[in-house]
Amino acid sequence: MGDAYLDLVNSGAGAALAKRLGLPRPAPLLRHHPGDPLVDGPVLVLGGGPDADAVARLLSGPPGGSDGVPDGWDLDVHRHAAPDERYAAVVVVLTAVTHPDQLAAPVLEAASTLRGLRRGGRVITVSRPALATDAPAVAAARQGVDGLLRSLAKELRGGATGNGVVVAAGVPVTAPAAVAALRFLLSRRSAFVDGQLLDVDSDAGELPADWDRPLAGRVAVVTGAARGIGAVVADVLARDGATVVCVDVPAAGEGLTAVANRVNGTALQLDITAPDAGARILEHATSRHGGLHVVVHNAGITRDKLLANMTAEKWESVLAVNVAAQLAINEALLASGELVDAPRIVAMASTSGIAGNRGQTNYAASKGGIIGAVRATAPLLAPFGGTANAVAPGFIETDMTARMPALTRQVARRLNSLQQGGQPVDVAEAVAFLASPPAGGIVGRTLRVCGQNMVGR
Ligand code: NAI
Repeated sequence: MGDAYLDLVNSGAGAALAKRLGLPRPAPLLRHHPGDPLVDGPVLVLGGGPDADAVARLLSGPPGGSDGVPDGWDLDVHRHAAPDERYAAVVVVLTAVTHPDQLAAPVLEAASTLRGLRRGGRVITVSRPALATDAPAVAAARQGVDGLLRSLAKELRGGATGNGVVVAAGVPVTAPAAVAALRFLLSRRSAFVDGQLLDVDSDAGELPADWDRPLAGRVAVVTGAARGIGAVVADVLARDGATVVCVDVPAAGEGLTAVANRVNGTALQLDITAPDAGARILEHATSRHGGLHVVVHNAGITRDKLLANMTAEKWESVLAVNVAAQLAINEALLASGELVDAPRIVAMASTSGIAGNRGQTNYAASKGGIIGAVRATAPLLAPFGGTANAVAPGFIETDMTARMPALTRQVARRLNSLQQGGQPVDVAEAVAFLASPPAGGIVGRTLRVCGQNMVGR
């Protein structure tokens, strides 16, 4: 699905015209391709204390481990900003701050590098959550990181993003999920994730033997896999090593078979609202592939109407597909006792479910429902090392958004810090990250993939 404006302002004549007229000039995002280096250039690690040292060691250490760090990433790490250096990423470790006064030194040192940040650069904060039990100055400093990061992300240009990792009290910054979150945010897999703070809740999770195939040996089910975002989720999970079961309604059978063949997986024609949907998914995954580890609840529908014009059919069908079916499937899977090997549930929410969207009360109720559902489902999976999380896409270039009126679509695309729509692969990368074994310490959370959409909180 193309964005003609993006192409135009990145062509020679179009770029000059847009500059003269003061029009937004979104930069094409750099996305991950297998074999790419994790980061393309030097990385500056700022901040004091043992956590900053540990992060610097992780990033610079040799692959295969040293100094108690299991697997370094062999990056060119600097600890002080060198004048004229063009950094690919700046990681600001702020876990040691105990007063807002202490933010100035590391933040202003980071600031000195921003004009030279490389195209598609990354600024990442690593911090601790502000708790009601903290001393007020500590909580002020920690919560200050939130405001600072979200504002900085709005200032970056050239496809650069700003995101944060917020590591719970008592959890080491080298916990598997913190390490995996840092890696995801540094990489081009997170191209359309911007202005977000990822909470790491525990030190659960397991580092993969191979970061390029973290899902090796895992069996994943993706609903709504015949097209759109679901089809690309299937692609990305398979790329990362999973065996994928592709689920969609019988009417989408042709597309479903094509995707299943493409990813070397299997197809299951199933309406997820069927009362036996959970049992059929489990039966298919265990009999054909010997188990079930990852469930991606992606299938979803819209039936938009202003609430004043809403019909019972439109309301009920959206709630049934988008949230009730998932609840019933999760219940069946949990009751089966088969979901016991560090399972991962990843559900598709939407920024509409967070910020609200005119004409989408039914859809937003269902997607807000997903955010609540994963929060409450995660503790049920915790005894098995499992997690439930959601991804909330913003404007993504798919058939769904291609059907919007042209002008509304043009405006909607620009209303985020990256000034463009995301691609299905951007959502798929976030799903794959949350589905991976190292993400086990991220529990019941919702990760927005929206380019820092201007709407919402
Ligand atoms: P899409 O309409 O292109 O694909 C949805 C797929 O789900 C279709 O293949 C459809 O046949 C399948 N499906 C629908 N009802 C089903 C049922 N009862 N049983 C089994 N399969 C069923 O949608 P798209 O754009 O790929 O969206 C995927 C998910 O992402 C949805 O949950 C959507 O709400 C969500 N999302 C999409 C955004 C976007 O900008 N495209 C933004 C935010 C969220």
